[in-house]
Amino acid sequence: MATSISAKPQLGTSISFSVNGKSVSVSAAPAERLSRVLRDRLGLTGTKVGCDAGDCGACTVLIDGEPVCSCLVAVAQVEGCEVTTVEGLPARAPVHDRLQKSFLNHGAAQCGICTPGMLMSATALLERNRTPTETEVMDAIGGVLCRCTGYRKIVTAIINVDAKDDASSPSAGNAVGTRLIRLDGKNKVAGTEIFGADEIPAGALLLRAVRCPYHHARFRFGDLDQFVADHLGVYAVLTANDVPGENCYGVIPKFADQPVFAENEARFRGEAVAAIVGEAHALETLDISSFPVTWEEMLPITSIEDALAPRAPRIHKSREQNILVRGRVVRGDVEKGLSHSDVVVEDTYETSFVEHAYIEPEAGFARRVGDTIEIQACTQSPYMDRADIAKILGIAPESVRIIPTAVGGGFGSKLDLSIQPFVALAAWKLGKPVSMCYSRAESIISTAKRHPAHIHLRVGATRDGKLHAMDFTADFNTGAYSSWGPTVAARVPVHASGPYSIPHYRALTRAVHTHLVPAGAFRGFGVPQMALAQEQIYDDLADRLGMDRLEFRILNALDDNTPTVTGQVLGQGVGIRACFEALRPKWKAARTKAAEFNAEATGPVRRGVGVAGMWYGCGNTSLPNPSTMRVGLKPDGRIALHQGAVDIGQGSNTIVTQICADALGAPIERFDLVSGDTAITPDCGKTSASRQTFVTGKAAHMAGTELRKAILALAAACTCAKITFDDGQLMIADGEIQHAIHLRDLPVDNFGYVLTRESTFDPPTSPLDENGQGVPYALFGFGAHLAEIEVDTDLGTVRVLKITAAHDVGRAINPTLIEGQIEGGAAQGLGMALMEEFIPGKGENLHDYLIPTVGDMPPVESILIEYPSPIGPFGAKGIGEQAVIPTAPAILNAIHDAIGIRIRRVPATPDRIRAAILAKRNGEPLAS
Ligand code: FES
Ligand code: FES
Repeated sequence: MATSISAKPQLGTSISFSVNGKSVSVSAAPAERLSRVLRDRLGLTGTKVGCDAGDCGACTVLIDGEPVCSCLVAVAQVEGCEVTTVEGLPARAPVHDRLQKSFLNHGAAQCGICTPGMLMSATALLERNRTPTETEVMDAIGGVLCRCTGYRKIVTAIINVDAKDDASSPSAGNAVGTRLIRLDGKNKVAGTEIFGADEIPAGALLLRAVRCPYHHARFRFGDLDQFVADHLGVYAVLTANDVPGENCYGVIPKFADQPVFAENEARFRGEAVAAIVGEAHALETLDISSFPVTWEEMLPITSIEDALAPRAPRIHKSREQNILVRGRVVRGDVEKGLSHSDVVVEDTYETSFVEHAYIEPEAGFARRVGDTIEIQACTQSPYMDRADIAKILGIAPESVRIIPTAVGGGFGSKLDLSIQPFVALAAWKLGKPVSMCYSRAESIISTAKRHPAHIHLRVGATRDGKLHAMDFTADFNTGAYSSWGPTVAARVPVHASGPYSIPHYRALTRAVHTHLVPAGAFRGFGVPQMALAQEQIYDDLADRLGMDRLEFRILNALDDNTPTVTGQVLGQGVGIRACFEALRPKWKAARTKAAEFNAEATGPVRRGVGVAGMWYGCGNTSLPNPSTMRVGLKPDGRIALHQGAVDIGQGSNTIVTQICADALGAPIERFDLVSGDTAITPDCGKTSASRQTFVTGKAAHMAGTELRKAILALAAACTCAKITFDDGQLMIADGEIQHAIHLRDLPVDNFGYVLTRESTFDPPTSPLDENGQGVPYALFGFGAHLAEIEVDTDLGTVRVLKITAAHDVGRAINPTLIEGQIEGGAAQGLGMALMEEFIPGKGENLHDYLIPTVGDMPPVESILIEYPSPIGPFGAKGIGEQAVIPTAPAILNAIHDAIGIRIRRVPATPDRIRAAILAKRNGEPLAS
């Protein structure tokens, strides 16, 4: 590492324009992006940057009233123009207040990163047309991507902008079950939410990573000191030699294998080998191709087959056959079960890498404060980040403070470290704040993906339609490093049966290393891939048995007391049958409608209907999984909820508060949220695996209950007494007796609270034995989706007409937020089924990597089933992962229903469907 002198920023041209009604004059290079000028020079960070390429629409502003992507506008182009950003909407547009309320009432903002762009586009429309049609709204927001909501609630919010605002706050003790507006929503609709890139300290240094351009390469550096000396404003180059602790991290400590900087050999395209740190203007204009590194490209292993080949070189020396880990669940005698089956179906399926495509690229900064390193960044797992950063820097975890920002979409990938080790190391070494914001390409090439899978199944049933045996094998391409590969390999064998009873079962999985980007957590941890195979083969089995496909599933659905494939008897709360039964009338009606359409069709379009079921264990698989909640009563009568479950848009800030409020018997308005910060909030674990409503919600329920008991004890009142919270005092009504407790008279504890209670909940699970038998999860969520689609047999295109989604959520703590998860999950499932495939080295942007737009999304009807879990808070179960799992197989089953062709490789793109249709017409074996 070497240091250099600083450089002065180059002066630009003076450009004058109006922003939000005020005249401004900025000195900037004429070609500088307007989005950068707004954010970096004028502090208007409500304008978001998701791609810098005109693909995402997050940067939409109004220029002379017209919505425009500000990342595509050179600042010189707005000379003399009137620019409006989200911050200026309240003053400019009278409709804005209504629009904000409508977004909040309809749950149209989840993570909120797309919300400013949506609001700008909607405002431009509403200023022209206050009563737009659905089509007009969809046209207006067609250029703004949202990865969370599935768009429908946004469309509804815009159409209903002038609807009566009847949102009211629930009374004390009645928050659970209400459509409470998200408690953290106001900042999202005002554009004032702070995401990773939004609070970089002035003068912070900037860090850029040097990344390997090959799938596999050896490398050596040239004269790094000379490089630093030659570049004004560059302060340092960091490499593996600069890591004071372990140059190794990973989300599962036992499998940790990823270096901060590769040493001598890079194992995937996009792996960081060095970091350049310096003044922002110097780094932004630096030609990184001049960095002194020599690459020696090596033969990469890119496929599972090549990785498993007998003579394949090992990607990690300690991992034989390039197998990271195996998973196994065996019950009964599968070979006997298959031989005793009356019908056996066998098939193979293949899935692709899927990119998370959250709209917020990874961003944040670090600063050294004495002997502590503080990192403010977007993350789903602050305490895990803390542990890994401590290890990398060689310091105690207590010397690391993680301050999570709002997360502009995560879906699993932001469980892994991204910018954190780089900025932490640089700030630790240089003693100055250091920031890093991934470009879209950098985000795509270097962060974890959904695992591609090769899946083979044999499934047998008896003549009466009962599932009898399943033999399942799956290999997952886990890429160069472990990330969440072990979790996927462990979770899938437990789930591969689906929510059905099968007496003879064998599921074997392997996570296999290749020289590709690491695959990790993505909404479902391998279960969506597996469901694609399992639910399609069940359709084929039902067809072979001559049974209705839905009735086949109902016949085989798990019940409260049937053992699962791990031998677990769930006892109560198994709601899968109820989900399927809720779909029955819709299924019949949709099938009739599709048959009528097809009977009358003269053109190339055919309709089909598909159904698929799912189950998903909430929380870690047979591993400890605790959350700790702290709730404190303040002297002024307000209640502090230390809520460390990072809300990545799914709504945990709101749902956990609803649960705690009702356990305590206090009104929601009394609560002050203290959100995740490892210095002030206990560990609520990571936001993943649909665990926050269940695990953190349960801890919140326990803490609220304990605080209630403590309050009642102050007055020696009975447990049924009613507490009224007032400013500085509590009134306790215990039958006829009224107690007043003056809170300001009471001593405060170390937290500054009159009373504090902290509770920890760890779901009861047990380790699985060598055959995968045991209790992997304390509870499961269940669901089933119905997809109605059209296939254009000339073009191979698929249009999804409607999704109907029935989910057993145990107790719907907040129906609006649950619907939001379902609709967003359905959108991601639709993308996985029809369009999303990441090919490393190709399409590393949001132009070539397609995700559903508003025009792709059909209406989604949610049916919430409440089959209470005996252990969940108020009976609640998780919904985040559950929502995505059944959509893709339901769509693929619908395609088969429409055209009689089974698509075995997703995504089912038009070229694959068309090729399959042509092959079928020509009597050829299907290549799909
Ligand atoms: S940042 Fe401008 S369109 Fe994505
Ligand atoms: S709410 Fe739209 S991207 Fe998250």
